[in-house]
Amino acid sequence: MTQQRLLIKNGTVVTATDQYEADVYIVGSTVQAIGKNLSVQLAETLNTTETIDAKGHYLFPGGIDAHTHMELPFMGTFASDTFESGTLAGLYGGTTTIVDFAIQTQGKSLNAALDEWHRKADGNAVGDYAFHLGVTDFNPQTRTEIKDIILKRGVSSFKTFMAYKGALMVDDRQMLGLMDEAGKFGGMVTAHCENGDMIDDLVNQHRTAGHTEPKYHAICHPELAETEATGRFIDLAWQGNHPCYVVHLTCEGALNRVREASKRNQHVNVETCIQYLLLDDSLYEKPGFEGAKWVFSPPLRKPKDQEALWSGIQQGLVHHVATDHCPFCMDQKRMGEKDFSKIPNGAPGIENRFELLYSEGVAKGRISLNTFVDLIATRAAKIFGMFPKKGTIAVGSDADIVIFDPNASHNLSVKAQHMQVDYNAYEGWPVQGKVRTVILRGTVAIDQGGACVGKGFGQYIARAPYNQALFNTPELSPALTKL
Ligand code: URP
Ligand code: ZN
Ligand code: ZN
Repeated sequence: MTQQRLLIKNGTVVTATDQYEADVYIVGSTVQAIGKNLSVQLAETLNTTETIDAKGHYLFPGGIDAHTHMELPFMGTFASDTFESGTLAGLYGGTTTIVDFAIQTQGKSLNAALDEWHRKADGNAVGDYAFHLGVTDFNPQTRTEIKDIILKRGVSSFKTFMAYKGALMVDDRQMLGLMDEAGKFGGMVTAHCENGDMIDDLVNQHRTAGHTEPKYHAICHPELAETEATGRFIDLAWQGNHPCYVVHLTCEGALNRVREASKRNQHVNVETCIQYLLLDDSLYEKPGFEGAKWVFSPPLRKPKDQEALWSGIQQGLVHHVATDHCPFCMDQKRMGEKDFSKIPNGAPGIENRFELLYSEGVAKGRISLNTFVDLIATRAAKIFGMFPKKGTIAVGSDADIVIFDPNASHNLSVKAQHMQVDYNAYEGWPVQGKVRTVILRGTVAIDQGGACVGKGFGQYIARAPYNQALFNTPELSPALTKL
């Protein structure tokens, strides 16, 4: 069977290190050549090659969102996006690969969690997907599963929760054991860093005082709870000389713990999420129950924390901008109408992350185009063992490419979204720049607002062990090839 051929002409290729005008020639699912005037060299096959003119557009690597929760069973309900609807929404917004969290049910095995997440995603996801494994019960039995999960099942990162006491939280002893075991085989531990006991105590105090509204969620998740846990997590990793990754870091205090660690030459991988860069805790003051839309953990912080995060990006302390996409419809949120601690934690974002980071970051002059690419795709691919298959535009890489129009503008709205949830966390937000076409493994997946692929098109991405050396070597050469 002849492989499909696609030629993207006249675009500006942007990677984490380069920016240049070139044509990109795709054969099958991978990039075959990058160069000027490829159509001349391809003259013989041009009539069987689909051509897209990308003049005036950027060609970015497909976005990677390393923090999503599709169909997550949580707080008595399920996150409202399935792998089908959530990854499709991601594609519409320029995200071609997600790393979702398969979460162990306490008392059950790690493999059972992974099996369950494969059942949900395989044959359903529209975009590509990989898994982290959320370990909620590390014991002698689960310890024995770690090696094969990393080396045979392609899952090289483990998530721990230092919060959600009584549900998902692990203690420091379990954390150390997991770091040791995963470390033997190239696995890395990631953590939701909030002090679960501190939060539990505050929640009890406020419930006893009869406080019910959504804003008490934020009051019960103070900056200090995150700062303390972030420092502790980093110290536990340092103690065993293990790599580590802080998920959804939100605040100045926690970032300062990362900064402190860098003074002893410890490398801490840090993720923040788009909502923490753009939104602040004044949203919890909205009338009635509206603040519930932004009830997630950690909560939104102060404008000074947003500034700290943008600075952290500029200083190279923050490496990935994810979403923690975990949507719940307002009917689900209303489970906590009379008790803030029962509002399902989570919010939508996968469809908006790429355009928002471009608009608020690049278009507003806060970050360069190369930093944008690193934050939206490349660094996550490197940290999580998918580079250079994913996360860049280079010869031999998967042809996951976003054709982006920097001159188009629009406003975000629930009315236009594909995420399966009845609100948009950024309703009315003006966005400069727009995803025009999304190519996943050489196939046009989205074009001008319409989907060209469907259920089951997404593939599972087995990931390699953690390799810190990838961060210290120069980017792959752009490989401008002659055919
Ligand atoms: O509130 C959140 N973030 N919900 C999803 C689970 C988690 O903590 O990541
Ligand atoms: Zn979390
Ligand atoms: Zn999460």
